[in-house]
Amino acid sequence: MSRYFKYKHANDLLADSRTLGLDVRLDSDLTPLLAPVRVGGRILGNRLAIQPMEGCDSEPDGAPSELTFRRYRRFGAGGAKLIWGEACAVVPEGRANPRQLVINEATAPALGRLLRDCRSAHREAMGKDDDLLVGLQLTHSGRYSYPRPILAQHDPLLDPRTILDRATGATVTTADPLISDDELDRLQDAFVVAAGLAFGIGFDFVDLKQCHRYLLNELLAARSRQGKYGGSFENRTRFIRDLTSRLRAEFPRAILASRMNIFDGIPYQKGPDGTGIPVPPGSPMTSCWGTSATDPLEADLSEPKALIGLLKGAGLDLLNVSIGNPYASPHLVRPFEYAPPDGYETPEHPLIGVDRHFRLTAELQRAHPDVPIVGSGYSWLQSFALQAGAANVRDGMATFVGIGRGSLSQPDFGRKAIEGKPLEPKKICRTFSYCTALMRSKHNEMGQFPTGCPPFDKEVYGPIWDEAKGPGTG
Ligand SMILES: Cc1cc2nc3c(=O)[nH]c(=O)nc-3n(C[C@H](O)[C@H](O)[C@H](O)COP(=O)(O)O)c2cc1C
Repeated sequence: MSRYFKYKHANDLLADSRTLGLDVRLDSDLTPLLAPVRVGGRILGNRLAIQPMEGCDSEPDGAPSELTFRRYRRFGAGGAKLIWGEACAVVPEGRANPRQLVINEATAPALGRLLRDCRSAHREAMGKDDDLLVGLQLTHSGRYSYPRPILAQHDPLLDPRTILDRATGATVTTADPLISDDELDRLQDAFVVAAGLAFGIGFDFVDLKQCHRYLLNELLAARSRQGKYGGSFENRTRFIRDLTSRLRAEFPRAILASRMNIFDGIPYQKGPDGTGIPVPPGSPMTSCWGTSATDPLEADLSEPKALIGLLKGAGLDLLNVSIGNPYASPHLVRPFEYAPPDGYETPEHPLIGVDRHFRLTAELQRAHPDVPIVGSGYSWLQSFALQAGAANVRDGMATFVGIGRGSLSQPDFGRKAIEGKPLEPKKICRTFSYCTALMRSKHNEMGQFPTGCPPFDKEVYGPIWDEAKGPGTG
């Protein structure tokens, strides 16, 4: 049934990597993953990270629900020492869906309980939690806000793919207004308030989310925007630089983190022969970040590298890197084996996508060896994901190995690595895309189906999947 992933042994995978001209490395000795590491003023017990994985299961007001609590208890008990809490909107209109978490005075107490549950599950499983870091991803979804997009700039490729009106299916046009500079200034205040609430309830760090073409990522690419937040590198990075400096001044000892796209790329375009990506010269590259000005398939890390240097100077302690856009180029974000029901097929061998994550992360880690960097895109490697992580950490290509989809199917991958046990074969994520399909399925009476792992966390998500694919929904 597998189309690309046919590897029984490490050597099969390495042979494919060589054939494809890639440099994926594996090490069956996982000890590099178990070495402690410093982040800000804290020492973490290992290099294993759970990536932010939104469950789309909040209560209507944005507080965590029982499903959210369950997810974080499982993550806490899993053994990874860096738990990167999922997207949590700083203002209700910046939610990506009607069941995304929101942080405000009303939801903060429940978020605090979520954190305490996560930590106590960790203590119970691992004996201690002083070497565990749990953070919260602060977000504004910008172009992907629900129910209406909030745009930082117009984008010739993304506008026609961005739904403006859910009732009619109409998409964004250049006539639609952009968020103003004044509104962005007020939004910066909202990020500061949200960070204060998150630190107040005990989160170890906050992540200023600037990835996957949500608002702060779109600002980085806002070359055609006028005013103080658009155009030059200085203007496009102003929001995140100012915000980081403000947070450092207000919370001198707190850990500040960011998940940042380092390569936006463009939505994949099939050429006449079904392979290339002919795009009209000029236009798309004018609205991308970390992307070559001459070839939108290639990264150019000069600006991301410069920004990381500036953010480090402003007080950033921890970086998590990602690439692509889950709505327009999901194969870049999360290399996958099986297309989700929307039929989006990977235009490349997923190993190429995995190698791209590793290669670009390594380039940044080598440019900034003193910044702890979490790498992404590991789950397609299935049982070899941790071996790849061990080789990457061993070779200085990343500080942490971040597991996304694999942490929904087998959240205790870290504990297995620590105990020298293999992953449970029947719970290894096979990138079937059920989790994405649930996220994208039509809405139920709560406005959104929650997401998780229907095949391997069947007891809870099997019935949800059955309901989601039932008549009138799916
Ligand atoms: C269901 C689902 C939810 C996700 N939620 C978030 C999120 O809240 N924040 C974020 O930065 N990335 C999110 N991602 C992206 C993942 O963190 C990760 O980057 C991606 O899945 C690739 O890693 P993997 O190959 O280990 O799965 C999500 C991905 C999926 C499939």
